[in-house]
Amino acid sequence: MNIAVILAAGKGERMLEHNIPKGFINVLGKPLLYYALKTFQECEEVDRIILVIPEDFFAVATCYQKEFGFSKFKQIVVGGKTRQESVLLALQNSNASEEDVVLIHDAARPLVSQRIIKENISTALKVGGAATMIPTSDTIIISKDGKSIDFIPDRNEYYLEQTPASFCFAQIYQAHLLALKKGINDVSDDLKLYRDYGGKIGIVKGEKDNFKVTSEEDLAYLLMIIDK
Ligand code: CTP
Ligand code: MG
Repeated sequence: MNIAVILAAGKGERMLEHNIPKGFINVLGKPLLYYALKTFQECEEVDRIILVIPEDFFAVATCYQKEFGFSKFKQIVVGGKTRQESVLLALQNSNASEEDVVLIHDAARPLVSQRIIKENISTALKVGGAATMIPTSDTIIISKDGKSIDFIPDRNEYYLEQTPASFCFAQIYQAHLLALKKGINDVSDDLKLYRDYGGKIGIVKGEKDNFKVTSEEDLAYLLMIIDK
């Protein structure tokens, strides 16, 4: 079985003017999280969807289940203080079997494509883990204090991570438990935990449109794309 975990339990502190967590911001009459849910719903290979939300939004999310009518959207999990905690809570409550594939996706990336989802599943099945990434078009500059330049690495070696990141359930669950045992509870990235655990990761080509809505500018850009 292939299970999508859609994370929307963050506060959206970089978009506070909306007075609502990012995933719940109204985008052309639907909450932002709707768009990613829809694409996972429409992907034949995805069997079920777990939506992870802040505690106060449980009633709202329950209404969405009826409103959207997405047959695979059967479960809502209350997330934690950090993204890492939210993922672990979803894994713990997922009722997944050891060999299931779990796709972990940010609700804040509304324009994920069918291709990315499908390649995540096939890569996770083949390799154990899958990373969605794109090459950087800008050069990366390392500056520890933000005032002077320490180092300019070779651009060709640098990529940007997107989501989903996908894994064989048994392995990503063990990776999260191991991190917790080590006292790590605020890693924003599942791939790092999985690598520290010793998991193998294959690469899926990301897409520019699969950007994360982080700021007001991103939201304006999103509206421009989907209002076409
Ligand atoms: N997320 C989550 N649980 C948390 C923190 C983040 O489920 N405790 C989710 C967010 O809802 C988002 C994704 O992880 O879909 C990526 O995180 P980010 O873009 O940082 O979102 P927020 O944490 O909501 O935003 P900010 O960092 O600006 O507060
Ligand atoms: Mg955050």
